Amino acid sequence: MSYAIVYSSRTGNTRALADAIREVLPPADCRYFGPPDAAALAAQRLYIGFWTDKGTCDGDTAAFLAQLTNQEVFLFGTAGFGGSVAYFDQIAQRVTALLPDGVTLLGHRLCQGRMPMTVRQRYEAMEDSPRRTQMLENFDAALSHPDTEDLRQLQNAVH
Ligand SMILES: Cc1cc2nc3c(=O)[nH]c(=O)nc-3n(C[C@H](O)[C@H](O)[C@H](O)COP(=O)(O)O)c2cc1C
Repeated sequence: MSYAIVYSSRTGNTRALADAIREVLPPADCRYFGPPDAAALAAQRLYIGFWTDKGTCDGDTAAFLAQLTNQEVFLFGTAGFGGSVAYFDQIAQRVTALLPDGVTLLGHRLCQGRMPMTVRQRYEAMEDSPRRTQMLENFDAALSHPDTEDLRQLQNAVH
């Protein structure tokens, strides 16, 4: 079956997930690999990756999802906050709601993704509070993601 891997990535986290998917799928059936582009729409199955922006997918991905018609879709993505399945599920639900009728959702998989050091500096400048501590802890927990286990689980999910 023909497929395309479409991903939106500003700092490389989601791109790493896209590369991991590419590794386990047959190269001969790949019609497109790259950022959102109408060229990908011809594939029967699309693996679509996004980075989380304000609790949902980034704008480029949202615009691309609106162009889908009757393809099969597997969603993958990264989020700066995480560690909780419930949080990832909430994001996945919001993104799934953007899929046009006629699209078949095969599944979804999210993981945490590291954020730029400027974000930590912003937290550091905040007045001390339990919330600040929690944000700093989350930032540091995200630094190692996506890690090899995240990539392995994603590969298992698409297989
Ligand atoms: C403008 C902006 C908004 C973000 N909003 C969220 C958010 O609402 N929730 C979240 O978990 N992460 C948020 N993040 C973190 C990114 O989703 C996360 O670092 C992601 O892994 C980046 O993926 P990329 O490296 O593929 O660009 C935000 C990052 C930026 C730059």
